[in-house]
Amino acid sequence: MEFDMLNLIMKRRSIRKFKDEKLTGEQIQELVNAGLLAPTSKNNKAVELIVVDDIDTILKLKDCRNMGTIGLQTAPCAIVVIGDSEKSDVWVEDASIAASYIQLRAEDIGLGSVWIQMRNRVSESDSSENEIRKLLNIPEKYGVLCILAIGYKNENKEAYTENDVEESRVHFGKYR
Ligand SMILES: Cc1cc2nc3c(=O)[nH]c(=O)nc-3n(C[C@H](O)[C@H](O)[C@H](O)COP(=O)(O)O)c2cc1C
Repeated sequence: MEFDMLNLIMKRRSIRKFKDEKLTGEQIQELVNAGLLAPTSKNNKAVELIVVDDIDTILKLKDCRNMGTIGLQTAPCAIVVIGDSEKSDVWVEDASIAASYIQLRAEDIGLGSVWIQMRNRVSESDSSENEIRKLLNIPEKYGVLCILAIGYKNENKEAYTENDVEESRVHFGKYR
């Protein structure tokens, strides 16, 4: 069957419950490739990824933020998406595109994922970014955008349909 990009976009939903099954090295490589081939401003490749599949460390990552992290509770794989703020003044945009590409590739290979925001978020005692930098030994110059929790889906979410497209959010010619 012909590959249908819009169909893939409609099928991708945030998945926050995962099966107790590890990802293979090949699957992880597929995800990493999607992220590292995403476009970056001036092609300066400011985005880097930290793949974590050690469950204890994933649970410690969960504690780096005070809420919104339930997706990390059962995830067998977490990809921390970081950007070099010295290489790019738009590392947030670069890292966001990379994260989205990874999420789409995850759906494409039969996996579920959720974006867990870390930039501008806090733990009980510090910023989430500082907590993650400490935990994973990330140099100060890197911003930490988000953690993608990824694994085999253990919940069903309906795919979007064209009825979910909010036409009021698009303006033709000028804002009206
Ligand atoms: C920038 C951004 C930040 C998000 N932060 C979180 C988060 O911290 N925790 C979470 O469980 N989901 C988070 N999400 C997922 C959204 O809640 C989700 O995409 C939205 O509710 C729409 O649902 P869908 O992904 O199933 O279409 C985030 C998504 C984006 C794009």
